[in-house]
Amino acid sequence: MRKQDFVTDTMSKFSSRGHIHRIRVFIIVALVIVVLLLRVPSSVQTYAKLKDHSTPQIPINPIVQLQEQLSQQVLGVKKGLDKSAVNQYWDDVFAIYRKHNINNTPSQMPVPGSEGYGFDPTGMNPTKSFLEARTKIPDSLVRDIKRVFGSLMTDLPKQLLPATYKSGSSGVVMIGGGRFSWLSYLSILSLRRTGSNLPVEVILPTYKEYEEELDFCKLTLPKLNAMCIVAPEVLGESVMISLPEKFKSYQYKSLAIISSTFQNVFLLDSDNIVLRNPDHIFNSKLFKSVGLITWPDYWRRSTHPVFYNITNINVNLKRRTRYNRFPLVSNEDLKESDLKDVPFHDLDGAVPDLSTESGQLFINKKTHGRSLLLATYFNMYGPKFFYRLLGQGAPGDGDKDTFVAAAHVLGEDFYQVKSFIQTVGHFEPDGFHGVAMLQKDPLKDFEFYSQELKTKLLPAKDKSLAEQVEIAKSIEQEHFTGQNTVPPFTVHCNFPKLDPLDLMSRESIYNATENRLKYKMFNGFTYISPAHEQEVEFEHHQWLTIEDTLCHQKVHFSHFDNHDLKHICQFIANHLSTFQKPTT
Ligand SMILES: *[C@@H]1O[C@H](CO)[C@@H](O)[C@H](O)[C@H]1NC(C)=O
Ligand SMILES: *[C@@H]1O[C@H](CO)[C@@H](O)[C@H](O)[C@H]1NC(C)=O
Repeated sequence: MRKQDFVTDTMSKFSSRGHIHRIRVFIIVALVIVVLLLRVPSSVQTYAKLKDHSTPQIPINPIVQLQEQLSQQVLGVKKGLDKSAVNQYWDDVFAIYRKHNINNTPSQMPVPGSEGYGFDPTGMNPTKSFLEARTKIPDSLVRDIKRVFGSLMTDLPKQLLPATYKSGSSGVVMIGGGRFSWLSYLSILSLRRTGSNLPVEVILPTYKEYEEELDFCKLTLPKLNAMCIVAPEVLGESVMISLPEKFKSYQYKSLAIISSTFQNVFLLDSDNIVLRNPDHIFNSKLFKSVGLITWPDYWRRSTHPVFYNITNINVNLKRRTRYNRFPLVSNEDLKESDLKDVPFHDLDGAVPDLSTESGQLFINKKTHGRSLLLATYFNMYGPKFFYRLLGQGAPGDGDKDTFVAAAHVLGEDFYQVKSFIQTVGHFEPDGFHGVAMLQKDPLKDFEFYSQELKTKLLPAKDKSLAEQVEIAKSIEQEHFTGQNTVPPFTVHCNFPKLDPLDLMSRESIYNATENRLKYKMFNGFTYISPAHEQEVEFEHHQWLTIEDTLCHQKVHFSHFDNHDLKHICQFIANHLSTFQKPTT
């Protein structure tokens, strides 16, 4: 009995110890499974999707991967700024703007886009007299505005108050609200896929928009190391009230930059998609030395020459220093008669061609704070005056030239990418339909340009002006077209936008019976993803992302409230199955 007891006792002790051990193992295994389950679903889904469409292994949904990285780094966007000091500062600055308001618009000054010209049409040479003839501006008005501008220059702070941004910080700034929240989400997903870790701030123009975007701001964005900033929170409500009525979204770009907490800003339109990791640009020699990087628009500059009079910039009518965007090195004096042939913006002191496309821009608030303050002023009185003066009715949103104009007036540096835009679109029986503008990698562009400068333009410095112009022209036409070797950096999908609701409302492109698009929009455009060393078909990948976001992850966007998501998802599925089978 004792022995038996002993054995039973030992066995039961043994088995209970084994039991505890098994429970431990079980708990550990269960925890591992839970952790895996929490992480795996979207990558499983993503993988399944990718397999379906046999696309390269580029993640559709980079959130899971990102969260791992974020847990190892400090976010840097959490700490707020001193709200009352910042509000007070902007209150003062906007009082200066209002004191220098411009409220008379000469009736004959064309609004942006009204002329429909641009594109450097054959026969158009934007000489001084050509540009002056576009708009007659009375001398008395020029004198008045020149006086106002002179006073503004005295009152305007010499730099941006350092308390308005976090010293040394860098990040991406976009504008959100309604459909722009949807578009910026797509853009941020693409940004993350490039491997970018930069924090993102999505600026909402009003509290009302913030209330409509609570899910977006509080649930959706934080997963992507992004957050909302409500502009009146930073600028103060009094400033927002003092803004001209119907302040347009493009005017908001300068407000978005000043509302963000970053010192170094990569401003990206919400309908603009990055193809290459932008993070290293902030640390580049180029950005550090210039502090402002911009990109070209399709068109020549069409700024009225009195802009230079108003802003007290001397344009030397005797000295041609450029052919278009390429410098010439000559001491030859122009004759009066030359001015009928020389484009005005090739003259020394004028802002160089081409005009600017502001869908993307890098700016350092520390070095270019005053440029930013002046650009904001140009935007505040843009619709009434400055847009008309800067563009004279040329196509494009008004704000596009204000940043470069401000920097030029203040003598602050900038680099505008020299490579031309590559246009992407589809060919139909009625012609070519452009849908997106590809802007080129700024660092590769600068490298390439520096090389051309060193090997071709500088060695020609002893040649005649006419010969130099010919050399520059051949460099432009052979090396700086949109088709050159500099890789695309961003895809500005400006018309139509990657918004299913918008697309489904366009009869020209949407077949309602079939509930799908009539065409593939991007004509099979592919790019090499440096992060994944693979060729990606842009449109296909975007549609997969759209489907994953709306139909699988079911991320909530106020933009799609009160719309039939089932119908939208069917549309996306139809489109994918009809057009998006990759050819490879
Ligand atoms: C500006 O224009 C006024 C006439 O409106 C003229 O008297 C003045 O000389 C011009 N100044 C410059 C710097 O071109
Ligand atoms: C829609 O697609 C169907 C099938 O291809 C075609 O028969 C029909 O004409 C299209 N409708 C429109 C409005 O293009």
